[in-house]
Amino acid sequence: MTAGASATAAAPGRVNLIGEHLDYLGGRCLSLALERRTTATVTLRGDDRVLVRSGRRTWQGSVTDLVPGAVPGWPAYAAGVLWALGVRRGVDVAISSDLPSGAGLSSSAALSSAVALALDAALDLGLSRGELAEVAYRAESEMVGAPTGRLDQLVSLAAEPGRALLVDFAGERPTWEVLPCRPDGSGLALLVVDTRVRHDMRVGGYGERRAECEAAARRLGVRLLADAAALPDLADRLAGLPDLLARRARFVTEEVARVGAVAAALHAGDWDALGPLLDAGHAGARDDLQISCPELDLAVATVRGAGATAARMTGGGFGGSAVALVPPASVERVTRAVGAAFEERGWTAPQVFATAAGRGAEVLRRGRAAPPA
Ligand code: GLA
Repeated sequence: MTAGASATAAAPGRVNLIGEHLDYLGGRCLSLALERRTTATVTLRGDDRVLVRSGRRTWQGSVTDLVPGAVPGWPAYAAGVLWALGVRRGVDVAISSDLPSGAGLSSSAALSSAVALALDAALDLGLSRGELAEVAYRAESEMVGAPTGRLDQLVSLAAEPGRALLVDFAGERPTWEVLPCRPDGSGLALLVVDTRVRHDMRVGGYGERRAECEAAARRLGVRLLADAAALPDLADRLAGLPDLLARRARFVTEEVARVGAVAAALHAGDWDALGPLLDAGHAGARDDLQISCPELDLAVATVRGAGATAARMTGGGFGGSAVALVPPASVERVTRAVGAAFEERGWTAPQVFATAAGRGAEVLRRGRAAPPA
């Protein structure tokens, strides 16, 4: 491949309907791509320089410097993809995005997935969507050091418009099926409420929850905690755990059942069934997994009270966004109500936007550019 070969790819953020934190615990997750996305243009260079640019911010170094922990901040997600692919030549990477970052909507997976797909096109690698998701996952988990699961990259790369992805993490590699996801066909809009509370996945709560769930699995004698849902004497076994681990395990085993129920509802186009299931999902995330926060709890309670037929927190938690289903006639009321509730408490105004199930990552252009100087 000669210097100047270039490709542009776009990859979406995602929103989870149900199945929170089950990806690293061997369960199933139900997610859809947003219409908002990140675009990456990669251009192969004739030297060993790597330049990662977004707006006026640029990181640069040598491709030989790309080792885990060496690149600070957001450029590490792009540099990590070069590292995970074993790229040995210089590359220019230009990024732009309309996804809010740190909002629980997978802006980091959109970034790494867009770079992975653009490089696949520019270098003519011919990798599958599953293989590219694994590359993007390794960039985040090994290069950046975020202890996440494999869900976000897979949804970003494999999603289909008008569909949700039911991704199964029971095996060594995730497998997935697509389900119809057209809430508009049932007279509902899908709203995302970004609380503007930010959480860094590399530190704090997310990694703690992961460790606690893994400890609960060991105590219950199962390989992955989602497997505990099939234990015949589950209630007795939970009663024998320390309270904290019992809560984590209760959330996970109940969430496994909710995923099955929400998937069945989507198959049947029965969006009304989601109300109590998402209520229970939010309550479990708040009380048992303890990944919610006052802003998410207020957002969910307010939108439910103002006419949303279903709502819950979504994503890794400790901030970020809630997802809600709202009849179009109530969208304005719901949006105003959540804004007013936040204002009353003196909190930063939330951002509310509507989305349909968007398309997965796509190559927008491939060709040649003048080799970067
Ligand atoms: C983050 C992680 C995912 C997943 C979700 C919670 O988005 O990156 O791997 O664990 O949280 O469902």
